[in-house]
Amino acid sequence: MRVVTIIPTYNEIESLPLTLARLRAAVPASDVLIVDDNSPDGTGDLADRAAAADDQVHVLHRTGKEGLGAAYIAGFRWALERDYDVLVEMDADGSHRPEQLQDLLDAVDRADLVIGSRWVQGGSVVNWPAHRKLLSRAGSTYSRFMLGLPVRDITAGFRAFRRSTLEALDLSAVESVGYGFQVDMTFRVARLGLTIVEVPITFVERELGASKMSGNIVFEAVGNVTRWGLGARWNKLTGRP
Ligand code: GDD
Ligand code: MN
Repeated sequence: MRVVTIIPTYNEIESLPLTLARLRAAVPASDVLIVDDNSPDGTGDLADRAAAADDQVHVLHRTGKEGLGAAYIAGFRWALERDYDVLVEMDADGSHRPEQLQDLLDAVDRADLVIGSRWVQGGSVVNWPAHRKLLSRAGSTYSRFMLGLPVRDITAGFRAFRRSTLEALDLSAVESVGYGFQVDMTFRVARLGLTIVEVPITFVERELGASKMSGNIVFEAVGNVTRWGLGARWNKLTGRP
């Protein structure tokens, strides 16, 4: 099983070295692809140096900050052009503990998409302020209801996709720019009738650098989920596919 872990970065110069070292130690078999959006703090140069020192580390440079969704799509395309069987999504800031990646990989035998979940039995969040917990739970609950999905942590960003899952999707149709991208992908995978399995993870809030979460990201996600949910209901009523 050939695995590549895709790490999107924007101004992660403090966090990336440690995350990379932990990942290479925890799952040495996984290649790594860093997708940097021309971070002003020099994360891209740091990534280049890491790639020069380790031939399992690769870097994709993009010209500017275009959002998490666009970075992941570019990373998926890069990986699908190569012979990887499993494509992993992981944040650069250590919130997704590399030491738990193997739990996701162990489940990918019986799933088309594995989600590292904060909101299932055994999952948790460490050091998040109450408003972030509320936002995440409310976002998941609203999306679950609107989209009719059984998933508990729909916005989660620690995931393992089988190659065949991404090949079955039309990646150019994915419109979400921000973190709503994760909801978008979940909805698309579910609509194909593929199997989604959640495994519990402990999400640890970053100690270095800053979150890129913003009001615009929330606005985009809520707007899209509402549109998709109403669209699906309308299609059902009118008998459209
Ligand atoms: N290349 C690129 N471009 N990377 C980005 C961009 C972008 O525009 N925006 C964010 N990132 C990267 C960050 O550098 C980091 O590695 C990762 O995406 C997650 O960003 P954070 O800003 O740390 O996210 P968070 O901790 O607030 O949000 C977490 O929770 C969200 C809601 O559950 C993450 O796990 C998200 O994936 C999740 O959707
Ligand atoms: Mn984070």
